[in-house]
Amino acid sequence: MTQDQNQIAPARSRSEQAIRIIIREHQGLWRIIDLLDQLEQDMNINASQPDELLFSTIFDYIEHFSNRVHSQPTEIRLYKLLREKAPETAPLLDKLEKGYVVGHQKLLELRQLLRECMVNWPNGREAFGHALSRFSVALRKHIKKEEGVVIPRAREVLAPEDWDQIISARDQQDDPLFGDRVREEFRELRHRIISLTPERLGGLGLAHTGRVTAHHQGQEMLSIKGLVTSYGQIEVLHEVDISIKTGEIVSLVGANGAGKSTLLMTISGLQPTDKGQMLFEGEDLAKIPADKRVARGIVQVPEGRQVFKDLSVHDNLLLGAYTRGKTPEVMEDLEKIYGKFPILRQKRHNLAGELSGGQQQMLAMGRALMARPRLLLLDEPSMGLAPLIVEEIFQTIRELKDEGITVFLVEQNASQALALADRGYVLETGEVVLSGTGKELLSNEKVREAYLGM
Ligand SMILES: Nc1ncnc2c1ncn2[C@@H]1O[C@H](COP(=O)(O)OP(=O)(O)OP(=O)(O)O)[C@@H](O)[C@H]1O
Ligand SMILES: [Mg+2]
Repeated sequence: MTQDQNQIAPARSRSEQAIRIIIREHQGLWRIIDLLDQLEQDMNINASQPDELLFSTIFDYIEHFSNRVHSQPTEIRLYKLLREKAPETAPLLDKLEKGYVVGHQKLLELRQLLRECMVNWPNGREAFGHALSRFSVALRKHIKKEEGVVIPRAREVLAPEDWDQIISARDQQDDPLFGDRVREEFRELRHRIISLTPERLGGLGLAHTGRVTAHHQGQEMLSIKGLVTSYGQIEVLHEVDISIKTGEIVSLVGANGAGKSTLLMTISGLQPTDKGQMLFEGEDLAKIPADKRVARGIVQVPEGRQVFKDLSVHDNLLLGAYTRGKTPEVMEDLEKIYGKFPILRQKRHNLAGELSGGQQQMLAMGRALMARPRLLLLDEPSMGLAPLIVEEIFQTIRELKDEGITVFLVEQNASQALALADRGYVLETGEVVLSGTGKELLSNEKVREAYLGM
């Protein structure tokens, strides 16, 4: 976003833009804390000696966060402005600022305990493990306070000029909060952590619990070979080869108009195939009409959500199970969906059109789940949603995998989609140009340049 665009942006969106930046930084930290917890569990369960380099890189990251982002507490723009505009927040801000100082000491202690743990293995394990979990609990509390109290209050009291100050700081190279160099250092640390994190833990933010649910896991579920699809005379997909194994999350990334949605519609049968073959669990999809594909377990959540806006949330969900009738089982599934998305239960009598974008996405996913998918096709579920909601959607996708659902995820949000994926494909103007594990693609130069903006 350029300076000019900032200046003409309406007041509301200026504050939202600044908050988005802050929250995005927080998200990185949330994932790091999750990873710390996983590593701690891993250390306890497998009694495996910690990876010293990985842990110290994580500590570097957290230190970097608290040094760079909050090294000069009185100068943090947000805090400073908030102290001026909402003096009643002062005690909380004091406490949070003190938290940074204490956190700094705790990190030093952690580094010391890590060294002892390495030298004194396994004797030092318990002390290090305890200190780690206390640290992560405190850090979580701290961020929750910022996200739950500081930011909402800032949203209420800060004026557009205040937000301008915060945003323009972002464009200054050396700003301690948003400077380019700071961001670069973060990115670098993050990548180092991703590459050091063991595969079974899936790297940053992946929370692959390693639970193998489907016993068929690893068998080919969908095999696409030489697929050609056209709109009239215009060929859109050119001999696409893609394979999805049971239990995987496979992500497909690609620019606007690459043909991602067309591919999903071809798989679900809404778009005819010109050439090539698609086998679903060994069966030729050409012989299975679209409506029967749903019954086989191939269920698509279309782009742009497309819920029935004039129907209630409840009825939208029931429609997802139309192939199954209104059996006791269906009602049970409905309860499960409400359990997964409590907001949908709360709004079950509302019209779908009254829901926010994020809620509509949850509804669209819930509706698809009512069809008991085995292969779930998701078309840009994060599109147009606020970062925190995006996190929630991605978290849900992770859970679906854990429940044994195979996921084919189309996304323009390439970094998150690939971080989540077991494997991924890159589609460019109707051709698969790259494929590999999510990790390989994330570290691929070409992908980083074209899709991750690095
Ligand atoms: N119904 C249609 N009739 C004719 N051309 C179409 C139709 N739908 C899509 N196209 C064209 O097919 C190409 C691929 O479109 P598609 O929607 O599959 O891309 P996409 O990768 O999903 O893009 P986006 O990121 O914008 O969703 C584009 O050039 C698009 O203009
Ligand atoms: Mg699309």
